[in-house]
Amino acid sequence: MSPFYESMKAVILVGGQGTRLLPLTANRPKPLIPLVNRPFLDHVLNLLRAHGIQDVALAIAHLAENFEQAYGDGSQLGMKLAYVREIEPMGTGGGIKNVEKYLEPDQTFVVFNGDILTDLDLTDMLRFHRENGSLCTISLTSVDDPSAYGVVDMDEDGHIQRFTEKPKREDATSNWINAGTYILEPEVLEYIPAGQHYMVERGLFPILLAEGKPLYGYRTGAYWLDIGTPAKYLQAQEDLLAGRLKLYLAPEGELLWDRVWAGEGTFVHSEARIAGPVVLGKGCKVGPGVSITGPVILGDGCQVCEGAQLERLVAWNGVEFGAKSQCKECLIANDVKISGGSQVEGMAVVGDNAVIDPGQRVADGARVQPGPVVGGR
Ligand code: GDD
Ligand code: MG
Repeated sequence: MSPFYESMKAVILVGGQGTRLLPLTANRPKPLIPLVNRPFLDHVLNLLRAHGIQDVALAIAHLAENFEQAYGDGSQLGMKLAYVREIEPMGTGGGIKNVEKYLEPDQTFVVFNGDILTDLDLTDMLRFHRENGSLCTISLTSVDDPSAYGVVDMDEDGHIQRFTEKPKREDATSNWINAGTYILEPEVLEYIPAGQHYMVERGLFPILLAEGKPLYGYRTGAYWLDIGTPAKYLQAQEDLLAGRLKLYLAPEGELLWDRVWAGEGTFVHSEARIAGPVVLGKGCKVGPGVSITGPVILGDGCQVCEGAQLERLVAWNGVEFGAKSQCKECLIANDVKISGGSQVEGMAVVGDNAVIDPGQRVADGARVQPGPVVGGR
């Protein structure tokens, strides 16, 4: 662990609505949806811990109790967690301002967007921040289409000239985008108005630049993905299992054979065909004639009945795949029943407790709301 970071604090912004991931986020906040069977936030906390950061404030705007239930005071992870709730969502800047009292008045701190999977070298980013005498250092990653992100223009040495949040594609002047991790000096807190909705991307960064303050972009080729859409949420898990991150939490369970993990009490029939990477949670049952082609991740207590075919998908806990059902490229929340002979594919997303009736086909990015029955019964 780096002595650099011994007492540095971090803020994780976890107050977004996660609307692009609905219905997965209908009953839980985006940072707590599972990524390879662990709450996504575990992966963020793991990165912080690897760089010696133990003291973390979570800036929360909705479903606050879910976070506390998941992590308590953080001691099980060897961390100290504070939960700071906004009555109304205050935006990224408002969220940071709201945790001010948890920060040290004269100490550099780190801010994380809570929906980023990365193996960013925070220790090196802090070195860069200090060497440049920066007030605010923004981690950057390069993407083909920057229009969905904050776009950064800078000098060769990383000195930022301009920050534009979500420009039109034709107006984007650089492929370097805000990767959602900031190292900040406490002075920046004076620029954020208290008690109102405020975005650092549209307020703080442009204002600091207009005042000629030193803002730096830390360019990195580290693994980086915002998990905010269904396709990216699936991609993040595929990448993790393919070993594309240097630092990651390995899947839980026993390695049954090459890249196939199974949790306690999971039974796989000898006539099932499984091609990794596949992660099966605890207490799953995989029947005869089943074919599972990775990347596939199933949570705890899933049942895959005779002849079902599963390919490139994520399903959470208690999902039943009926006999001869076919599921490919889809996301399935808790306790869903996929009846025999039905099909779910084409990046469809199925909400908690939904039932897909026998012979139904759900495809083309369909979002099946929690609870209701598809096909009417
Ligand atoms: N506490 C709190 N309060 N957190 C919030 C609020 C709020 O009102 N609104 C958003 N957040 C959190 C979200 O939970 C997420 O972790 C983070 O702030 C960013 O919000 P998103 O809604 O995911 O923003 P985005 O992905 O469209 O854009 C942001 O991230 C990009 C990188 O992924 C911006 O920071 C872009 O500039 C950046 O490129
Ligand atoms: Mg995001």
